[in-house]
Amino acid sequence: MSGAAGGLFISLEGIDGAGKSTQSRLLAAHLRGLGRDVIETREPGGAAGAEDIRKLLVEGDPDRWSPETEILLFSAARRDHLERTIAPALARGAVVICDRFADSTRVYQGAARGDLRDLVDDIHARVIGVEPDLTLILDMEPAVALARGLARQSGEDRFEDMGLPFQERLRSGFQALARDFPDRCAMVDANQASEAIAQDIARIVEARL
Ligand code: TMP
Repeated sequence: MSGAAGGLFISLEGIDGAGKSTQSRLLAAHLRGLGRDVIETREPGGAAGAEDIRKLLVEGDPDRWSPETEILLFSAARRDHLERTIAPALARGAVVICDRFADSTRVYQGAARGDLRDLVDDIHARVIGVEPDLTLILDMEPAVALARGLARQSGEDRFEDMGLPFQERLRSGFQALARDFPDRCAMVDANQASEAIAQDIARIVEARL
């Protein structure tokens, strides 16, 4: 999505509680310090309609939706986010830092919730059709990440409530994804202090600017 538009599309991925939002904020500050126009955004959400859909997805009972229904809801939110936030920012040449994008659907719904990767890929090809230029996968010990995520008591724990074995499947899913897309994805060791993680990320991103 960068190409002629001149922007740079970066996504952060990983299991729940891996520290993506902190790292997204630190990366944005670092790039602004280098004089770049940066927007920070997130999924599900990042546009008014997509934020409404977010509430349906992250709150309530784990059984509230089937994985198939989730794929449709996440894709609807993503399309709105892409049209209203991501595409316009890239068109004006900004760096877009997105806390989760389509890889989360590939891993959460396509691999960990069910064996639905073909459905995820079909819908992605038809209604989204865009990949980040760079995806940073924050790899972290699931037990530590889950404890941290649940300690926040954010009221958005529907996926955390699926338990530790689910988070372990997610971690393997993200590791497999990094092997499938080696040019786009970079693994980051998130079992470190947040400043050390931020330095690793800054190094990887600066090599792509
Ligand atoms: P967040 O807590 O990182 O903001 O993300 C909300 C939750 O939604 C998180 O548990 C991961 C999950 N999720 C999916 O299951 N599929 C997706 O496509 C996305 C974007 C998020």
